[in-house]
Amino acid sequence: MEGKTILITGANSGIGFATARNLSEQGCHIILVCRNEKRGEEARQNIIDTTGNREIELLVADLSSQQDIRRLAEQVEEHYSKIDVLINNAGGVFGQYQVSEDGFEMTFAVNYLAPFLLSHLLLDKLKVSGSGRIINIASVMQDKNFNPDDAINQTSSSYSGMQAYKTAKTAVLMMTYYMGKRLADSGITVNALHPGFIYTPQATRMSPKLFRPLMKLFSKNPEQGAARPVYLAASSEVKGVTGEFFKDNKTERTSPVSYNEELQKILYTKSMQWTGLKTDDFTEYEWIR
Ligand SMILES: NC(=O)c1ccc[n+]([C@@H]2O[C@H](COP(=O)([O-])OP(=O)(O)OC[C@H]3O[C@@H](n4cnc5c(N)ncnc54)[C@H](OP(=O)(O)O)[C@@H]3O)[C@@H](O)[C@H]2O)c1
Repeated sequence: MEGKTILITGANSGIGFATARNLSEQGCHIILVCRNEKRGEEARQNIIDTTGNREIELLVADLSSQQDIRRLAEQVEEHYSKIDVLINNAGGVFGQYQVSEDGFEMTFAVNYLAPFLLSHLLLDKLKVSGSGRIINIASVMQDKNFNPDDAINQTSSSYSGMQAYKTAKTAVLMMTYYMGKRLADSGITVNALHPGFIYTPQATRMSPKLFRPLMKLFSKNPEQGAARPVYLAASSEVKGVTGEFFKDNKTERTSPVSYNEELQKILYTKSMQWTGLKTDDFTEYEWIR
């Protein structure tokens, strides 16, 4: 993996941090994307100190903000010639209803709209790689039904954090399948994965304090969770494999609705609008136009 440039979002904590450290040990050039400069810098220093790899850089962006994502993409455009692997890891469950600065429900904004926008803005850099890989951290928590309009029209009175999470992660799967198919000739692959039930700050936030020791006992640690994105980032076994969902490093079927091609297309078109992407900006990618 030496010489590979890997961008990981949400890299200061949990699965993202463990993934960054593992890939640093393998000699990759790592770009950590974190929303908090202090936490990000601590993570960067920790990785340098523990792996001896000095090619670890930090970019700061709050991924709930589309303006921040665009600024992040501009920095990548300016400073890096290529991206070999983009790991869309940042995400989580929000107990309370929150709205992003762009007016979207926060779970949907961070878990789905951010990877959608960032992946598109970095397509050219991934293409330069010749074998760019987009890895979306999804989940086994998925929806049986999916309506793109319901996803953005959630209200505080009807809000359920877990339902919003399932909706957002189902959207991530639909985007993975849609883009995987259409990017097939570009050399870029797009896959999603479930990391396992991993004891991280996000997982603990979802559980009452009383249950946390029990939860720790039955869950895996972040290093074990990181083994899943590391496999998709580094293994030659998945070279050329695209549009798949992986659990325990094997492909697995997801909720039937996630394969609905008509819905995937509707979601895709709406997501272009929600993120302000213009089809004319993607002249090289016929399928977007
Ligand atoms: N843990 C599990 O059992 C499990 C299972 C299935 C899927 N997942 C998925 O795995 C991914 C990683 O989660 P984790 O369990 O490792 O949780 P975590 O330790 O809480 O990490 C989440 C990361 O996302 C970052 N993040 C959250 N909101 C952000 C924003 N607006 N802008 C930029 N970064 C933001 C967090 O930054 P801060 O530190 O600044 O908050 C943190 O670095 C998530 O997508 C999650 O849904 C986890």
